[in-house]
Order: sequence, then C-alpha cells, then structure tokens
Amino acid sequence: MEKINNLDIKDLTNQFGSPLYVYDSDRIEANYKRLKTALTDHYPNNNIHFSVKANSNLSILDIFRRNGSGADCSSPTELRLALMAGFDREDILYTGNYESYEDLEYVSSIKGIKLNLDDITSLERILKFGVPERISFRINPGIGRGGFEGITTAGSDAKFGIPYEKAAEAYKMALDAGVKRFGIHMMTGSNNLEPYYFAEVVDKLLIIAGDIFPELGIKPEFIDIGGGQGIPYRDDEDPLNVDLMAKLIAKIIKERCQSYDFGLPQLLLEPGRYLAADAGYLIAKVTGIKNGYKKFIGLDAGMGTLVRQSLYGAFHRMEVYGKNSDFENVNICGQICENSDIFAKNIRLPKMDIGDLVTFKDTGAYGFVMSSVYNNRTRPAEVLIENGKPILIRKRESFDDILRLYPEEILQKYNS
Ligand SMILES: Cc1ncc(COP(=O)(O)O)c(C=O)c1O
Repeated sequence: MEKINNLDIKDLTNQFGSPLYVYDSDRIEANYKRLKTALTDHYPNNNIHFSVKANSNLSILDIFRRNGSGADCSSPTELRLALMAGFDREDILYTGNYESYEDLEYVSSIKGIKLNLDDITSLERILKFGVPERISFRINPGIGRGGFEGITTAGSDAKFGIPYEKAAEAYKMALDAGVKRFGIHMMTGSNNLEPYYFAEVVDKLLIIAGDIFPELGIKPEFIDIGGGQGIPYRDDEDPLNVDLMAKLIAKIIKERCQSYDFGLPQLLLEPGRYLAADAGYLIAKVTGIKNGYKKFIGLDAGMGTLVRQSLYGAFHRMEVYGKNSDFENVNICGQICENSDIFAKNIRLPKMDIGDLVTFKDTGAYGFVMSSVYNNRTRPAEVLIENGKPILIRKRESFDDILRLYPEEILQKYNS
C-alpha cells in the first residue's frame, strides 16, 4: 500500500514522522452519509450520535458535527471535547457507567443534553444535583453479542446496564422523583455485521419498553439502540448491510410502538467503529528483524500505539509499502517489553527490510484513543487528510510532555 487518499505514505512519514495515525475525511463523510441515508429512508425521525470514545480528536469530531451528526460521550472530558467541537446540547448524549458524584455533578450542569444512566443507583446519585428533566436508562436486555468476548457489552456477564427485570423499578423511581421526559437505551456489543442481530435486540428492547412504560404512563421520547455496527476487518468478511438493518429496525419500531401507543419516538444510534474505523491508518516503520525460534519483524509502533491486538486478540490487516510479492510467514511485534506486544502471529507478508513502512488498516476507531506511554514510548502524531491536503491534528508526544506532569520541585531536584 503506497497511498492514502492519493497522498504518498512515505511522504507523510517524511513530513510527520513515524509511527503516525492518518485519517481520511472523505471516508468518514461517506460512512456517515451511507448510514444516515439508510436510516432516513426507513425511519426519518432519527439522529446519529458519533461515539466520541472511538476517536476523540477535535478535528474528527468537527467533521461529524459539520455533517449533521451528534455526539455520544462517556466521560466528563469527552463531554467537554464535544462542547468545544461545537455540538448543540440537544445533539449530545451522555452514557457513563459507575458514574461518580463528581461526574454526575458536571453532567447535570450541562442542561439540555440527553442522559443514559447505567443503574438505579446512578439515579440516586444524580438526584443530589437536582431532578433531571429527561432520563433514559441503559437496559441490559439479557442478550449481547460482539465481534468477540472483549467487546460484548450485555448479557449476564456484562458490567453494563440495568438487568431488564429491574427496569420497571428504575423508571418508577425516576417518575416518583419528578422526572417528566423519558428515553430507553441499550448497547449490547460492538462490531456486529449481521443485520438480523440488530433486529432481534431492538425487538427485545421494545418488548421490555412495552412491558413497563404503559403501566407507568410513560411515552418514550427516544429509543437509543447504542452503536455496535461492525466493519469487515478481514478480507473474507462482508460489510454490514446498513440498509437492511435500518429496514428491519424501522419495521419493528413502527409495529411495536403502534401496539403500545408510543407514537413514533426518535431513533438514536451511537456508532463509533462503523463511522471512523476504516477511515484511519497507522503507519509504522520496521526497526528490527530477528530470525529466532520464529521470525519476528519489529516495528516502531507497539501495544502502546495500537493495543487492540494484544488487549483482546483483534486483527488489523497490514500492507507493506512498495512490496507485494516474495511473501513469507512472519510474526509482527512492537518494541514494548511485554511478550503480548504482538500484532500478528504467523502471518504471510512480503519479505521486509529495516526501514520498510507497514500500514495497519481500520485503525480510525479505538486506535489512538486507547494508546499509552508504557516503556515511555511517547504517543504518535495524528494527521487528517482533508481536501487532498495533510493537516497535523495532534502533535507527536515528546519527552517534555512526559516531564510536564512532574511538580516543579521534583523537576528542579533531578534537573540540577
Ligand atoms: C454506550 C456505548 N455507545 C456506543 C458505543 C460505540 O460502539 P461501536 O464503536 O461498536 O459502534 C459504545 C462502545 O463501547 C458504547 O459503550
């Protein structure tokens, strides 16, 4: 692979260094438009909220805002970034978990955003800061599915949400506290490629809503089905058919909401991966080649730069700059002092030399945001390609950045 949106990868690393995250704004816009069109064709009363946790760079958030997306935030800092990026409060969702008093105090002070609370006890805590005008609870519908276990976020093993058997109690408590407006939320897993899965789980959520809301006299303003729309990380996977997904979901919502006399609530989605993942690339340089018990190719990026492979066995396709023949089986690793610092085992790639550039695909979501400075290897820069030009949107972390958080007196002691 030599180019990203017509820009030469070697030129990009010559200009901005390596390792380097590169994002393609055209691809982000195309992803957003495809999903928005599918939803609007089948259920016009919808709003997409880009999941800020997937990629929280201000310039990326700005692309989503300009295209009409809202934001879904999972921490006070993400909320602050979303506000800085200019999202309207009505277009901001906040979905935390195990929210502290401090988190809830801040969130409550930002009037007008939509809140998904993770538990009944979250409601008890937030009431300390006044009665929210509108509340939605994250319901664990008892089933969940993700691309693999680490990204499955509902079902009996999940730490998220209110078990559906307790949902009525939660809404009753909110009503008794004086809350007037309601929504309902779930997020059952990430990287799902099967449209019928979304239909199944939306149906389950609506049955739960139908069980509890009419009795309490609640008409939900919105049905928030979370994110979870997947992308094909491997060549043999098919993309999610978002049109079919939207069609199936719309049919279920219309039928169920009519039978429960809910009207047609707003449909909210919180996708992260689907919108941003395949718009991002991580470029790394080969720094060492070892013929040990196995052949290892070491890169200047490691688990601190892109942790998904070592964290939960995720896979990212790799391509080598300027090479597309003479393949061999190799193991790709980083420079971090952990044996789990492995990007891929026994994978067929063209024969490489020191200095070759390797591009990891689909790293626009859960890439940079999950990076760390373990081994004091600082975080890479981020570049956005917009209107055919590369723009630096985050500087490479430096030794000064590492020192910045030491108190002055400590720095003086060791600087002298
Ligand atoms: C509450 C919530 N919403 C949205 C998302 C985004 O998920 P995805 O990137 O799979 O669309 C997540 C991811 O974990 C989440 O926890």
